[in-house]
Formats: sequence, structure tokens, C-alpha cells
Amino acid sequence: MNILVIGGGGREHTLIWKLRQSPQVEKLYAAPGNPGMKNTTCVPLLTPEAMAEFAVLNHIDLTMVGPEAPLCDGIVDIFRARRLRIVGPDRAAARLEGSKAFGKRFMLDHGIPTAAGETFTDAAAAEAYVRQQGAPIVIKADGLAAGKGVIVAQTLAEALEGVRQCFGGAFGDAGRTVVVEECLTGEEASILALTDGETILPLASSQDHKRVGDGDTGPNTGGMGAYSPAPVVTEQLWDAIRREVLDRFLAGCRREKLDYRGIIYAGIMVTPTGPKVIEFNVRFGDPETQAVLMRMDSDLAEALAATADRRLKEITLEWSPDPAVCVVMAAGGYPGAYAKGKPITGLAEAEQTGATVFHAGTCLDLEGRLVTNGGRVLGVTAKGKTLKAAITAAYRAVDCIHWDGAFCRRDIATKAFSHLT
Ligand code: AMP
Ligand code: GLY
Repeated sequence: MNILVIGGGGREHTLIWKLRQSPQVEKLYAAPGNPGMKNTTCVPLLTPEAMAEFAVLNHIDLTMVGPEAPLCDGIVDIFRARRLRIVGPDRAAARLEGSKAFGKRFMLDHGIPTAAGETFTDAAAAEAYVRQQGAPIVIKADGLAAGKGVIVAQTLAEALEGVRQCFGGAFGDAGRTVVVEECLTGEEASILALTDGETILPLASSQDHKRVGDGDTGPNTGGMGAYSPAPVVTEQLWDAIRREVLDRFLAGCRREKLDYRGIIYAGIMVTPTGPKVIEFNVRFGDPETQAVLMRMDSDLAEALAATADRRLKEITLEWSPDPAVCVVMAAGGYPGAYAKGKPITGLAEAEQTGATVFHAGTCLDLEGRLVTNGGRVLGVTAKGKTLKAAITAAYRAVDCIHWDGAFCRRDIATKAFSHLT
């Protein structure tokens, strides 16, 4: 198989790394890719139409889409119209992530446990509802807002300010519709699953670290690290997630005739009354993928091809029992303003420790040196016989890597210990 991966972050580097291990894979392409991808041809990311043309000309057998933006733009529809095999939901189904209002309505209609909430297109009505409900409360701008459109308001003043910001255009078009919902408390977990619309096949559980600072402090980020499995997801919780979230998701897709052949990511809050879905994403999580795929013993290329072909019922997935930990190294200032172009050293030493370094925001400068080129720069990932060993291995590799301003959280995966005896 020749495979094209759309995207160029840590998640896509991990997909390429895993696909390279498949005996079925011949050529690998990535658009735009990144300098960490080995034995891969990186090409510019063009419009969906131009990528479809590229796929025809280069005899691509399967295209895998990493990020949500091309899915929401309808890349799957364009590929399928040309009979090209692609993994991902079509444009209509991608609204599950692209529109918080659509996602919320879908969950409520199909009995998927989630925070109680309402959708507003009118600022005065939203304000009145917020006053009536009181704080804490959560305000969500409707469209894709690069992870910034969610305000978890602890006070009424913050909540009202959030509503004003949304309707005042702080999140662009995304703020014209606003979801106001109950604030849930508990520990979060990420559940990823493959589905072809008929079968749903969960991957191993994982947990992200959204806040920038140790002890879950500071602003939200794209994710500062992840580990798998997440022991907060007990056997009993898995059962509930399968029945109440995954099976109902699949039934909902069928009832609404959504063409969903891709990855579904349920962001779960483990509440005292059971699992509740905070959000659906229509793609692999980043950095969850780094930790999850490091534990996958099965052939990812085969599983993705089966997803696109609606043959997922033929697939079973095997997992290493060894935990994996991914520590994100970020540029000083992230998630606020940060510098780019800082030379990175120590990658070879880091990999000599046995860890794998997935690139996210890197590029080569004019002299061919590897430099920083984003907020989240690297995902340093390691497996261990125990969680403690995996953590130690990941940080041993992290400590080999340097650039001016580099930082990471030092407590990735430690929350797991409260569930392990
Ligand atoms: P999102 O941008 O939808 O991924 O949301 C970002 C983060 O906001 C989530 O990971 C949660 O930590 C938090 N969040 C979203 N919705 C809620 C909610 N209803 N209650 C509590 N926290 C929430
Ligand atoms: N790590 C969170 C996400 O991928 O949305």
C-alpha cells in the first residue's frame, strides 16, 4: 500500500512511525509532514481537490487525515467522489466536532450522557440563562476555535463576560452560536475508537494534560502530555463507556445516516454519576496518539484500510500491557506568544536512551539545522514495564534535549498513581 497522511504535527509523525512498521506499506507520503518523519516523502499541503489529484497521480491506496480542519472542509467528500480510499468522517459527520451545537444536539438526541445545556443565538437569552443557572458554568463558542472557544467560568461575572466575548466576535464566526452548559467535575479520560459505521472498535484508553502548568494549573493548551492506559478507566467504567457512549454514538450515526468511517474521540469526564462526554472530536487526539499507538501491537495500516472499506468487523487489535508516556516539550511562552527558530540539540542522545521523539513544531533552517517552529515542539515518548519506569524513561530522554526557552510539565502521568495500588 502507498499511504498519504494529511498533517504535520506530533500526531501525524506518530501515524507515519506506526505505519512504517507495517509490512503492507510501501511508500509513505505526508502533506506537509515534518522533519522527523523517516523514509517519508513530504509534499506541500494543497487544497483538498489538489490533494485528490496528487493521490491519483502517485497511486495512493489510502489517505489518512490527521487534523479536524480538512475534515470539516470536506476533504473526505472530495476524495470519495473520485473513488479514492480515505479514512475520516465526511463533512456532514465532521460537524460533531466542527459545531459544538451540533455535537450537543447529537448527544442529547441519542441518549449519550453529557453535561446538561442549551444553545443560544441571541446574547440576551444566553445571559438570562446564565444568570438563572449561576456559576460555575461553561460557555462554548460554536465553531472550531483552535481550542480557545471554551470558557470554564467559576464566577457569574466571568460567565457573563464570556457570553459577551463570544457574541462580540472574540472567536470570529464561531461565537455567533453559543452553547451554555453545566460545569462537570471529575477526572478526564480520552477514548479513541475506529468505526466504519457498522462496527466500533475502541483503542486503548489514555489521558491528556490540558493545562500548561504542573498540578493542572495555568491556561489550557493543545495538550502537554499523555499516557496510556488511563487507570481511571476501570473495567466497570469501560463497560459503561461502551454501552452508553460508543454503542449509542454508532446507533446515532446510523439513524442520522452519517457516513462515518474514521476515528471518533470521546473526551470523557468521569463524574460521580458515571461517564459524561465533554466533547466528540472526529480525529486522533494529540498527544494521546503518541502514547496509544506506542502500545499498539497490531498493524495500523490494515486497521485503517478495513475502516475505509467497511470491513472493521474482521479486525481485532492487540495491545502491549506496558504503559507508555508522552511528555510534550514546548517553546517558552506557549500557549501565549513564543519565539520560533531556536536550534534544538540532543535528539540523538535522547533516542539513544530508547525513547522515541515525535516532532510537532520543528523545521530545518536555511543551514539545515533543526529549529523550533511551533508552540508544542516535540513529544518525547517511552514505554516501560511499569508506569513508573515509563515516566522515568520519558524524562531521561527529555533531559537530553535543549533549546533556548524549552519547557515541559514534570508531572505527566502521576495522576494515575492515585488509582494504582
Ligand atoms: P474543548 O475545547 O471542548 O476540548 O474543552 C476544553 C476543556 O474544557 C476540556 O478538556 C475540559 O477540561 C473543559 N470543559 C469543557 N466542557 C466542560 C464542562 N461541561 N465542564 C467542565 N469542564 C469542561
Ligand atoms: N489532546 C486533545 C485533542 O487532541 O483535542
